[in-house]
Amino acid sequence: MEQKEQLYEGKAKKVFATDDPELLIVAYKDDATAFNGLKKGTIVGKGVINNKMSNRLMAMLEKNGIPTHYVRELSDRETLVKKVSIVPLEVIVRNISAGSFAKHYGVEEGIVFDQPTVEYSYKNDALGDPLLNTSHALALKLATAEEIETIRTYALRVDELLKAFWKTCGVTLVDFKLEFGRLSDGTIVLADEISPDTCRLWDAATGEKLDKDRFRRDLGGVEEAYAEIMHRLEEHL
Ligand code: TMP
Repeated sequence: MEQKEQLYEGKAKKVFATDDPELLIVAYKDDATAFNGLKKGTIVGKGVINNKMSNRLMAMLEKNGIPTHYVRELSDRETLVKKVSIVPLEVIVRNISAGSFAKHYGVEEGIVFDQPTVEYSYKNDALGDPLLNTSHALALKLATAEEIETIRTYALRVDELLKAFWKTCGVTLVDFKLEFGRLSDGTIVLADEISPDTCRLWDAATGEKLDKDRFRRDLGGVEEAYAEIMHRLEEHL
């Protein structure tokens, strides 16, 4: 697969064209940002871990009936994916209170919900990714009602599959963010990445944070946490 011109550089990844118009190459960087780019840093080795972790998890989800953009891993940091047009919604599923949920609603972190919550943000850095509901997403024509229903169904199924997988690793899946895209024929597939950048993952025994919150909150041991969570995954998938 020939890598052609760079199409886009995001905060954590670069995207390149290939000689096939339906396929792209994603290259993962070690760059880390938080608070809409206000905080910047590097997490050494993150690109390699996020690439491999996301690919393995997407392959597992695909096997369990969730269509994804994943095609094949090309190298430590590079992956071939199907070209999609991203639906500009950040889809957040929560099993336990943490982060912005705890802040918005004035509750402590760690409350286990009876059932998962699903929420959407408008993927728009200039506006700071504001929260919105289905009516807002329809008013803004970000997706059709049918697409939002498909996305919600997939997101909840992804939650069940990821929760069960991480449990086998002694890890609690607290919450995560997904992005979906449309293939050229309009099919909705899971896109972007699933990694410690986009999930909250707590050690089930100790509650230790094994994700990007260590960077966001200056907790230290960031690289060690990424290495530990990757090690747990490799033992079980
Ligand atoms: P939040 O509690 O800050 O809203 O984050 C919820 C989940 O979404 C958490 O697992 C981290 C992930 N997330 C992203 O992947 N990208 C983002 O820009 C933000 C704010 C959160």
